[in-house]
Amino acid sequence: MNNRSSLRLGVNIDHVATLRNARGGSVPCPLRAALLAQDAGADGITAHLREDRRHIVDRDIDALMDALRVPLNFEMAATEEMAQIALRLKPHAVCIVPEKREERTTEGGLDVLHSEDKLARYIAPLREASCRVSIFIGADAPQIEAAARIGAEVVELHTGAYCDAHAEGRMEARDAELDALCAMATYAQGLGLEVHAGHGLTFDTVGPIAALPEVIELNIGHFLIGEAVFMGLAPAIKEMRRLMDSAR
Ligand code: PXP
Repeated sequence: MNNRSSLRLGVNIDHVATLRNARGGSVPCPLRAALLAQDAGADGITAHLREDRRHIVDRDIDALMDALRVPLNFEMAATEEMAQIALRLKPHAVCIVPEKREERTTEGGLDVLHSEDKLARYIAPLREASCRVSIFIGADAPQIEAAARIGAEVVELHTGAYCDAHAEGRMEARDAELDALCAMATYAQGLGLEVHAGHGLTFDTVGPIAALPEVIELNIGHFLIGEAVFMGLAPAIKEMRRLMDSAR
């Protein structure tokens, strides 16, 4: 963890693997990107092992677990296969994300409310194994309440709708999304949940989210990996870090 601000940056390296897999072979190497991110100031590395292995594959997760000195945030769907992998590797954190359309709420996060009992049973062994369990969720009070009830320690608020509205120039909608994120960050913290945020964040959109005092971690990937093409990965991470710190 760093002491520059109380806000942590998790760098998501999935799309380095997307690029590698576009050609097959071994380059660019996600582990190399993760180590570089770590040196450039990332407080954690995030990687999503999808059921179809479209980007990150199992050996990437093994390599990250072996080599990282910052915590790994392992994103996964709530499937039996993923639970077994997480219980074998015991990453610092597990973030449960939707992979199938029917698992999503209208906000794009996980639908906890309609599978509460199943998810409560699902996360119990992960918590017993000392994985910090996070739920990727829309800015929606009933979903947040359900996340607290099932025993999650963290909610990661989905910033995708806010970022999309900004990118499309729908500023009223963007501000409404930001207001909802702000209110739900406060609400979630009041329920005893640690609050993270992420999805779609860019240099232009990170500031108002970084300024929310309840939010203590941002997970950012696609934009940073894209920006690495133009300015390099370390400078892109450092610039993101600077913008986060100055918004705080
Ligand atoms: N947080 C979660 C839970 C995610 O699923 C993702 C995307 O994999 C991110 C953050 C990062 O989103 P992006 O790649 O758009 O920055």
